[in-house]
Amino acid sequence: MKKVLIIGASRGIGLEFARQLCASGSLVFATSRDQEGLDRLKALGAKALQLDVAKPKSTEHFLSALKAERFDCVLHVAGVLGPRSDATSALTFAQFDEVMHTNVGCVVQMLPALAKHLTPVHGKWISISSVMASISLTQDSAAWVYKISKAALNMAIHSASKEHKELLLVAMSPGWVQTDMGTSAAPLSAKKSVSNMLKTIGSLDHSDTGKFLNHDGLELGW
Ligand SMILES: NC(=O)c1ccc[n+]([C@@H]2O[C@H](COP(=O)([O-])OP(=O)(O)OC[C@H]3O[C@@H](n4cnc5c(N)ncnc54)[C@H](OP(=O)(O)O)[C@@H]3O)[C@@H](O)[C@H]2O)c1
Repeated sequence: MKKVLIIGASRGIGLEFARQLCASGSLVFATSRDQEGLDRLKALGAKALQLDVAKPKSTEHFLSALKAERFDCVLHVAGVLGPRSDATSALTFAQFDEVMHTNVGCVVQMLPALAKHLTPVHGKWISISSVMASISLTQDSAAWVYKISKAALNMAIHSASKEHKELLLVAMSPGWVQTDMGTSAAPLSAKKSVSNMLKTIGSLDHSDTGKFLNHDGLELGW
């Protein structure tokens, strides 16, 4: 991929995407909420842009700063886990809103505008979802609001694929990955998860649009 935008690249999976894409010679635009993240991205050779996806003013400012840039791919990575609690304890609207705004509101706000910054026909939008979004694979309600938000994200991507037929939109699970969110108990390194995802993204074609895929390319059940 020649030119890529990564949304949410200050650390974890997003930062690893930036590292691998910069190393392979892609022109990388990548976002962070804070200066430390922006500095890490600049050190990799990426063009670093400030963005808090949960703040509409920040989104507005970010979109106008993009001017006429065109990308081959948008990697939407930013996400929060929120409370780990299950359906036996009530959540406040504030807790619900933070997770929903970050994990789904971001797409609802930005995809229509960013679609115009993607190369027609070959442009790809990849939202990092989670196997925890899968209704058919669900065993429990742990991290209840996170599950709800990622299932909503999957619907956002699947339904948007019906409108943006000129693009290729996919929701992708990275697996359980060693990051601040995934913890050191996770079996997959960020390096391996991201290299698998880049391989899968590279092999996508239009028959894949609207799908929910695992990092290794296997299709996941909704
Ligand atoms: N790790 C796993 O096992 C796993 C499994 C399934 C899915 N995922 C998904 O993979 C994605 C990346 O997760 P990760 O494991 O790399 O988690 P992480 O280490 O906690 O990193 C989360 C990233 O999202 C950014 N972010 C959070 N809220 C944001 C906001 N309001 N605006 C902009 N950026 C924001 C963070 O920025 P700050 O540094 O500013 O907080 C950080 O760059 C998430 O969508 C997550 O749900 C992860």
